[in-house]
Amino acid sequence: MSTTVRNIAVFASGSGSNAENLIRYFNTMDSIHSPRIALVVTNRPDAMVISRAEKAGVPVRILTRSQINDEAVMKALMEEFAIDAIVLAGFLLMVPLFLLRMYPDRIINIHPSLLPRYGGRGMYGRHVHQAVIDAHDTITGITIHYVNEEYDSGQILFQTSVPVTDTDTADTVEAKIHALEREHFPQVVHQLWGI
Ligand code: GAR
Repeated sequence: MSTTVRNIAVFASGSGSNAENLIRYFNTMDSIHSPRIALVVTNRPDAMVISRAEKAGVPVRILTRSQINDEAVMKALMEEFAIDAIVLAGFLLMVPLFLLRMYPDRIINIHPSLLPRYGGRGMYGRHVHQAVIDAHDTITGITIHYVNEEYDSGQILFQTSVPVTDTDTADTVEAKIHALEREHFPQVVHQLWGI
């Protein structure tokens, strides 16, 4: 692992709109010094992120949960692509401890709420937005944070919010959250690890 971040792996389990957005942002940059999305890892063979990444020319590896938890497998993969940092973008498995130790302060996650609200096991995607609606919250937002050994509890790097109105549904909140993610996530990663 180099001291500057050159190669980023994106871990994703779902649609991959954030992965695609990160690829578009970093992999079309002029600067030869800026980081690149060098690899996409998914645990879901049916995830849309696969076709999105392939279309953008980024290698994808589909791994089972037990492969992701296998230190030798993951170490070899991270070395093969010279990965310096990992971004979780809708990745629904726990990151194994050996990866946290391999990449101290080099693994971040995006979460679709204003943590610590609506974090923890089972709180992902639509479940979060439905919880916001059910609680009649008047704001929600996104949180980008370092990953540690507990779900959604690492040091917060960035948060921004958006109003929730009486007419919002889980669907419309999701659309607002995706818009915030599109606007901010690549820039936050760039500020953190870019040159
Ligand atoms: C994103 O909204 C992300 O914040 C959320 O999953 C969605 C993935 O969308 N992550 C979590 O809920 C993590 N707990 P995408 O697959 O289109 O990028």
